[in-house]
Amino acid sequence: MQDYDLVVIGAGPGGYVAAIRAAQLGLKVACVDAHPAPGGTCLRVGCIPSKALLESSHQYAALENRLKQRGILVSGVTLDLNKMMSHKERVVRALTGGVKSLFKKNGIDLHVGRGRLEGPGRVVVGDGQTTLSAKSIILATGSRPASLPGITMDHRFVLDSTDAIALSSAPEHLVVVGAGYIGLELGTVWRRLGSQVTIIESLDCILPGTDRGTADLAQKLFARQGLSFVLGARVTQVTVDQDDCAVHIEGGDAVTGDRVLMAVGRQPHTEGLGLDTLGIALAARGVIPVNDRFETSATGVYAVGDVIGGAMLAHKAEAEAVSCVDMIVQGTPAGDRPMIPSVAYTDPEIACVGATEEDLKRRDVPYRAGVFPWIANGRARSHGTLDGEAKILAHRESDQILGVHLVGSQAGELIAEAVVAMQLKATSHDLANSCYPHPTLSEVLKEAALAVHNQALHI
Ligand code: FAD
Ligand code: NAI
Repeated sequence: MQDYDLVVIGAGPGGYVAAIRAAQLGLKVACVDAHPAPGGTCLRVGCIPSKALLESSHQYAALENRLKQRGILVSGVTLDLNKMMSHKERVVRALTGGVKSLFKKNGIDLHVGRGRLEGPGRVVVGDGQTTLSAKSIILATGSRPASLPGITMDHRFVLDSTDAIALSSAPEHLVVVGAGYIGLELGTVWRRLGSQVTIIESLDCILPGTDRGTADLAQKLFARQGLSFVLGARVTQVTVDQDDCAVHIEGGDAVTGDRVLMAVGRQPHTEGLGLDTLGIALAARGVIPVNDRFETSATGVYAVGDVIGGAMLAHKAEAEAVSCVDMIVQGTPAGDRPMIPSVAYTDPEIACVGATEEDLKRRDVPYRAGVFPWIANGRARSHGTLDGEAKILAHRESDQILGVHLVGSQAGELIAEAVVAMQLKATSHDLANSCYPHPTLSEVLKEAALAVHNQALHI
């Protein structure tokens, strides 16, 4: 038996960040992961490899189509998909190796093997040869791809996201089920690399839950890039006949293609975790229920990240990890609950934080909206990235910023400022009265803030 102050199960952004934070605060820490390369879904098969492919495919598409307009003529552009995939794998290796180094630097023991709770304060690793004991245990076992009832992913024709970031050739026609984050990002990658892509979504808009005006504008721009959408179409079945896949839609015609990507969400990963040994029961959708201190129903056992549900995002898992450890060690979190932004790394990017117009209307909150388009921004003009719009929602009386919704190039970088502004309870006047560097894309935020009071200068 090896004794620790804290054992973390799962080395994704929730688990590895919890381990590092706890070690910084002086705890003796072990982290257990089934996979020898730490970093979880995010580093191995999620955020990082998908962004590597998005960037590579973006550059390929730019060479093929966009540079011509600026007088840069490139001929004989060919695609070596193998090399593109090798680059992606190198990025993943560098970052998972980086987590290993951080563990070493912070004196954290990494135990490779499946972790299983075995009664209070005990975690068994792998086949049972190693048992760890600790006063506190954090469950950060993340999530895995979900499918629909009756639809099995065979990983050859019917794919999950992990398959879809590792294909050896571009499908002729990729049919994507779900117009959420994965459907849009990976649909974009394969469209740029030559596939016909059809995205089928059961609701009547893409990225459900996103500010509706923002989502509708983004959909229009994606359609221009050749992504086809079938909205308001609930997929009920997928059948595979030799090389043809038929995606069946309730009350409608089937859509056929040679590959199908199931992108209908992810499911908390709790199989074989031994929750029953401590009487921890799962809540709806298979999430581990926790209170606002990340405590499960078992004393000394906490959970963070995708496994507790909510937005399944790496930065949300990290933020929860830090708060959870701070509560374990210091009894209180270091600050207020952070605002959690979301970004789709498509082209243009969609980046949001806070309330949508629909949320505010539903809650009867009086607000003003300020909107400013990318096309009126000097830097966007010089980049040739004219599509997009920044929207700031501010309280009608207090002027406090309640939501920021961006669709446009580099929106994912710009949203960080809005997050800080909202975290500090800034008003639209605070942004409008600040001096922004010119020419930068960030000026769209200042102008949208000015527009809240009909005072935008450049439109
Ligand atoms: P995970 O990262 O899933 O890590 C859980 C770890 O626990 C895994 O390493 C697993 O091996 C391990 N594990 C599970 N059970 C056990 C066990 N019993 N014993 C030992 N180890 C175990 N989010 C973003 O914020 N931005 C993005 O751009 C983004 N892109 C994504 C793209 C794709 C294709 C996918 C699939 C996801 C993406 N996400 C993105 C979501 C993000 O990856 C997750 O929200 C994040 O990884 C969750 O972190 P986590 O630590 O909770 O769990
Ligand atoms: P998602 O929850 O984002 O989207 C799933 C979509 O599938 C929804 O729009 C839903 O309405 C639709 N759907 C469900 N059942 C359907 C049916 N029967 N027929 C047609 N459509 C149906 O899930 P996704 O895209 O699989 O991503 C999983 C998670 O991974 C996301 O929740 C996100 O948190 C995370 N992620 C984040 C990224 C980012 O931050 N950039 C990138 C990729 C993933």
